[in-house]
Amino acid sequence: MTQQPYVIDQMISAKTIAARIEDLSEQIATEFKGTDKLVVVGLLRGSFVFIADLVRELDLPVEVDFLECSSYGNSMESSREVRILKDLRGEIEGRDVLVVEDIVDTGHTLAHVIHLIESRHPRKMKTIALLDKPSRREAPVKADYTGFEIPDEFVVGYGIDYAQRNRNLPFIGKVRFVE
Ligand code: IMP
Ligand code: MG
Repeated sequence: MTQQPYVIDQMISAKTIAARIEDLSEQIATEFKGTDKLVVVGLLRGSFVFIADLVRELDLPVEVDFLECSSYGNSMESSREVRILKDLRGEIEGRDVLVVEDIVDTGHTLAHVIHLIESRHPRKMKTIALLDKPSRREAPVKADYTGFEIPDEFVVGYGIDYAQRNRNLPFIGKVRFVE
């Protein structure tokens, strides 16, 4: 697949992201205060940078696990059918769980994951997304905690890719196609 050339315009700086994660981690520590252990579930692959920064700010005993769902492939369009490609390693029944998503777009992925986790009867489950594009929503879902609401732009960086590239950018940028 040949790709049209594009440039990346910075949208959210690394410093702004770090400050927001400090706020969010305080709220989550309050939410789960007294937990014996919080199972932090990262949705692969886009959440890997976010989860790494989030758990290091969280003043709680945590366990980290990962779940991988099928998504865009190499395209910019979301698929409505969500499949589990890699399941959790640990049991979550009766546990406190925080689901960590990079970006909620149509909402199909998060809706599917919430349903899956709930079917395993955690004691308590909350969801957090770094980014939210509310104008794109198709499934009626909202993360309990959101880093930033953004307009309908295709973004990359801070773990988020376009055709597997740009995950290593330290900031969030938007993709702009050029001639
Ligand atoms: P949803 O199921 O449509 O909400 O899509 C969720 C997944 O699509 C996210 O976890 C991302 O992996 C991917 N995604 C959504 N928007 C973007 C974007 O702007 N850039 C890169 N990936 C995106
Ligand atoms: Mg994702």
